[in-house]
Order: sequence, then structure tokens, then C-alpha cells
Amino acid sequence: MTEQPDQQNVSQRVDERVETLFGFDGDPVLQGALRAAREAGLPDIEVSPTQGRLLTLLCRAVGAKRVLEVGTLGGYSTICLARGVTPDGEVVTLELEPTHAQVANASIAAAGLSDICRVEVGPAIDTLQGMLKSCPAPFDLAFIDADKQGYPAYLDLCVRLLRPGGMLIADNVVRGGRVLDPPADDTAAQGAARFNELLAADDRLEATIVQTTGRKGHDGLAIAIRRG
Ligand code: SAH
Ligand code: DHB
Ligand code: MG
Repeated sequence: MTEQPDQQNVSQRVDERVETLFGFDGDPVLQGALRAAREAGLPDIEVSPTQGRLLTLLCRAVGAKRVLEVGTLGGYSTICLARGVTPDGEVVTLELEPTHAQVANASIAAAGLSDICRVEVGPAIDTLQGMLKSCPAPFDLAFIDADKQGYPAYLDLCVRLLRPGGMLIADNVVRGGRVLDPPADDTAAQGAARFNELLAADDRLEATIVQTTGRKGHDGLAIAIRRG
């Protein structure tokens, strides 16, 4: 994103090599989800294939049964999360745009995962607040990847919806380094920077931020565990 062109080129090529090496580029379900998203005119902002596999692995690592996602887009990351849950598991994913939800539902169905994924349409804040009132079973893992301005609010709501020992993951918390000194006109970088401060100060969580590079440029993932 703000990397030197040659460094970005190397990162991109390494990502492509890893995708080939592990066969991520031969995954018809995920390739189909990407194709459907592009055909519907959705922006090319899904997690990368390597990051998608990381989401699957982290679900497995915490033995996730119930997963919460904030920001569905065309369902690419939703499918990755759903692949990592226990056989009786489920993924609830929140999406503002009905057209995005429609594309996601079609790709989730094509993946054979409709039984375990539910797309909730509307502003995530409202859905999360509703869940806090009515949802008895806490989530084992939450993945935040919607509007960056909303991240500070999503952090608190998602932590409250996580069981002790549950994992919180957030995408796009580095924004090409713009979180260091967010430009006045970059509300996404401002939201991510505020999120990072709140995350670091949150006594309910043990957390870190890992920078990411590759086909999606320079960004970062926050990873945290809710204390017991
Ligand atoms: N997680 C997806 C990418 C999500 S892109 C993947 O990796 O495949 C961010 C999504 O968040 C977009 O679809 C956008 O419409 C949605 N979004 C934006 N504001 C939102 C809000 N207030 N509530 C819920 N979803 C929102
Ligand atoms: C962008 C990237 C993302 O992964 C996302 O969730 C939202 C926006 C971007 O590059 O603009
Ligand atoms: Mg993202």
C-alpha cells in the first residue's frame, strides 16, 4: 500500500507462490466466491487466500463452535471461517448492504455451507446490540472486518459477546502505516488507530497486532484472547 514498488512486487510474488504451493489457487469454492463478487461489482477487498486459511486455522485452534463476523461482503472470509468450525458449529455474519448479503448467500450455498452460516442484514451496531440482549450462548471467535470508523464500537460489543478464552481478530488495523499519524481526511485510518489504542488498553484482552503484506498491500491483523 505504501511499500516501495519493488518490495510490494516481491510480497505479491511470495503470496502467489504460497497460494500455488498450498493449492489455494486451485480451490474452486473460494475462486467461485471471488468470481461471483467481481461479477456483481463488489470491491476487491476480501482477505487474501493466505489470510483466509489463517482464519480457518484460528477457528480450529480455539475449537470454535460459534463464530461471529462483522462485515460479510461476498462471503469469502465467511466461507473460510465456516470451514474451521466444529461439525456442529455455526457462523453468524453481519452485513449492511442487502446486495452484498445476496451475493454472499449465493456463494455460501455454492460452498454447501448454508446450513451453518447466517447472514444478518443491517447496521452491525444494531445487530450486535440486539444479540447482547437476546443471545445466551457467547461466541468462541469474532472477526471484525467492516467499516473502520465503526471498529471502536465493534471492539467493545464483540468482546462482550465472546466467551472467556475466545478469540478476537480484526483486519486492516495498519492501513499502509497510516495509523501512525492518520491523515485528517482518512476516517478509516483514524478508526483503526483508535481501535488499536482501545485494544491495547483493554484489560479484558491479551492482544497483539501483526503486520501483513502480500497481494493486498501493507496492512495488519489484530489478534486477541478474552481473559478467563
Ligand atoms: N470480510 C470480507 C470483507 C468485508 S469488506 C471478506 O474478507 O471476504 C467490508 C464489508 O463491511 C462490506 O461488505 C460493507 O458493506 C460492510 N459494512 C460496512 N459498514 C457496515 C456496517 N455499519 N454494518 C455492517 N456491515 C458494514
Ligand atoms: C479495504 C480493505 C479491506 O480489507 C477492508 O476490509 C476494507 C477496505 C481497502 O483496502 O480499502
Ligand atoms: Mg478487511
